[in-house]
Amino acid sequence: METTNGHGERHNAWIGSAGAAGTDLRSDTMTTPTASMLAAIQSCTLLDDVFREDPTTMDLEAHCAALTGKEAGLFVLSGTMGNQLALRSLLTQPPHGVVCDHRSHIVKYEAGGVSSLTGAMVKAVVPKNGIHLTLEDIETNVYLDDDVHTCPTRVISLENTLNGMIMPLEEVQRISAFARQHGLKMHCDGARLWEAAASGAGSLADFSACFDTVTLCFSKGLGAPVGSILVGDNDVIKHSRWVRKSIGGGLRQPGVVTAAARVGVDETFGKGPNGQGGLLRETHVLAKEVANMWTDLGGKLFHPVHTNMVWLDLDEARCSASKIEALGTEVGLKLFANRLVIHYQIYQNREVVVRRLRKVFEKILLEKSSDGAASEPARGEASIYRKQ
Ligand SMILES: Cc1ncc(COP(=O)(O)O)c(C=O)c1O
Repeated sequence: METTNGHGERHNAWIGSAGAAGTDLRSDTMTTPTASMLAAIQSCTLLDDVFREDPTTMDLEAHCAALTGKEAGLFVLSGTMGNQLALRSLLTQPPHGVVCDHRSHIVKYEAGGVSSLTGAMVKAVVPKNGIHLTLEDIETNVYLDDDVHTCPTRVISLENTLNGMIMPLEEVQRISAFARQHGLKMHCDGARLWEAAASGAGSLADFSACFDTVTLCFSKGLGAPVGSILVGDNDVIKHSRWVRKSIGGGLRQPGVVTAAARVGVDETFGKGPNGQGGLLRETHVLAKEVANMWTDLGGKLFHPVHTNMVWLDLDEARCSASKIEALGTEVGLKLFANRLVIHYQIYQNREVVVRRLRKVFEKILLEKSSDGAASEPARGEASIYRKQ
């Protein structure tokens, strides 16, 4: 199908991995919607969701609630919106605090929303094992008593996966049991919980059972153009729907985006509770192969590869972020500092991508001792979005 783009040129954008995303490793948010999403959009319902009349949207919400074992779901415009609505709904009246990993999206990349929307004090904890928080990390960072000087912890917010790394189900269960024992609420930023489930670490329902609220994104590894889902019990979702309305997130005919999101769930994640029949597992295998290609050439990894992300230790390789990005441009790949995201459209284009990545890796690692330049010393706190 051909259309015209904004400049009047004829083109067909619905070509999946043959388009821009097939060579873009910066993020799984770069995945583009597919022809089957377009077909679903063409046959979606176009009714009003503020009036709760749109079957395509309500079916998606009910399906995600069923997949995660929760009572209800709420379609939201973004992962950020899902996290913020959840925290705003779980928290009531200050003084109140949230405990989370210091690398969490909710503290680093949501524009300070937790503080402005909830008034909560955030305790950002450095996990002792460098990979994920444990119950012991949490226990030493919560405020459980009613001493007037402290800000009592009300919510523990966990991110899974975080930087592509899985927090094991057993650890989540330990933290959840502790939270329930002390009357604390649990939120999961599960933007990529699909990846944890597809890796075999536990089903969506196993993980979700540990939380009061879970956000899952359609617009990242699943490849939908827009949206996320917030799941929880009827009361918390009712409240979140209210908060969503209050910030202008009530949607009129969202079938055009929820239809595409449903295709992402069915085709990219797959129909089984652990992503059986989907495409994510293959991306994890490919991510390990890419990591091995780097380490076989002598490179080191910055984080272990659990799912779809490969983190290169560029400092050790004496390579700056701008250098690897320029090398990527030379071979026709879009790269983003030391993080390679192996999403499913990269997997579908793997023959081209792996050959080009090898060239980049060789350039970096074979030239390491000659003209390598380490990254500039970082100014301010590290951020994946700040150019060095
Ligand atoms: C772990 C995590 N949570 C939440 C979000 C926010 O999603 P959005 O960009 O849809 O607001 C992101 C975005 O990349 C993310 O990586």
